[in-house]
Amino acid sequence: MDRAAPLSDVDPEVASLIARDADRQRSHIHLIASENFASRAVMEATGSVFTNKYSEGYPGKRYYEGCEVVDEVEDLARDRAGALFGAEHVNVQPHSGAQANMGVYFGLLEAGDKILGMRLDQGGHLTHGSHVNFSGLLYDFVAYGVDPRTEVVDLAEVRRVAQAERPKMIVAGYSAYSRILDWAAFREIAHEVGALFMVDAAHIIGLIAGRAHPNPVPYADVVTATTHKAMRGPRGGMIMCKEEFGAAVDKGVFPNAQGGPLNNHIAAKAVCFAEAATQGYRDYAAQVVANASAMAEAVMAEGVRIVSGGTDNHMFLIDLRSIDEDLTGRDAARLLSSVGITLNFNTIPFDPRPPYRASGVRIGLPAATTCGMREPQVEEIGRLITSALRNRSDESVLDQVRGRVTALAVEFPPYPEDFPGHV
Ligand SMILES: Cc1ncc(COP(=O)(O)O)c(C=O)c1O
Repeated sequence: MDRAAPLSDVDPEVASLIARDADRQRSHIHLIASENFASRAVMEATGSVFTNKYSEGYPGKRYYEGCEVVDEVEDLARDRAGALFGAEHVNVQPHSGAQANMGVYFGLLEAGDKILGMRLDQGGHLTHGSHVNFSGLLYDFVAYGVDPRTEVVDLAEVRRVAQAERPKMIVAGYSAYSRILDWAAFREIAHEVGALFMVDAAHIIGLIAGRAHPNPVPYADVVTATTHKAMRGPRGGMIMCKEEFGAAVDKGVFPNAQGGPLNNHIAAKAVCFAEAATQGYRDYAAQVVANASAMAEAVMAEGVRIVSGGTDNHMFLIDLRSIDEDLTGRDAARLLSSVGITLNFNTIPFDPRPPYRASGVRIGLPAATTCGMREPQVEEIGRLITSALRNRSDESVLDQVRGRVTALAVEFPPYPEDFPGHV
């Protein structure tokens, strides 16, 4: 085997799958709220020789030799994140957002402890107590939800449930919610009941980094996040916490939840934290929020209902029942995929349908904004979505939509033509 041979020679099958997905990425409009297009610099670091190094432990205390350089890169990533978010202690080792949450629960709680989180069918995440996830299997989760009238998190209910249940930890954070949470109010409730306060900022961490969303770090005992969603870094997780919890959180990640860290991803996290500290990134984060709001307004102007009536962050949920009582989220997502718009179906608060059919679609703007789209483009896409969903059996309308989607995808590609590597 020639170890210096290119992928296309060594494994044409995988090379062609990569090429096919690059083509899919180039030819569609991407509205999955948790996806983005990483920079060349991030991908170079992810594809670097750091992939070869084992380094169980933390900088200065490893179980392997030869860690001088990975110690430096991990310290760099931690320092950059600490400066960017104002965090006292940072752990950049979690392989993913789920493992960041696992590390925190393992480090700060005992199995069986009670945790208060957001209802999963109203926007919370799998790792906030789903019965099919380690969180629901190992911990005793109780939940708060949104107000049925406003569809906004009901702080009075959070307080009421917290006082009745006396959880060890309160988790604020979500996968499908479009409003800003009041970090100070959550902290106050956590203090009142003697609970730890954790924010799962997986979705919004990029907006926070870009100063387009309030930062939970000063308020929370611990903040978890992913680096691959709005943040636009490599796939992975991270944890920030007060110094007093640092040692326990580190132990929760390694050795409790994980083995050796992915040093190539840690290097790429360092790169993305440097990118996020620039004015260009702040402009990007502000544009993501402006785009989400503009698209939501354009969709509402077509007479379609948006959950909670709009958005303050990078995403929103369409209530498909306002288009057609019988239209499920799954069918809507499939239809939109067939015209070149990629998104995901999602339950909406108090959804009468089960999650695999759902009554909503979730729309996020981080990826489209990375491609350079601004208000005129995203407003048009909002109208194209409405038009496709209203004319599902009219092939001529669907063809017109497909044509515009392709034109926009070509005009606003995720990477320039001459981008090197695997795209
Ligand atoms: C709020 C929240 N937490 C955690 C995660 C888990 O991240 P990962 O998929 O990297 O495990 C997600 C992912 O969607 C999320 O939305």
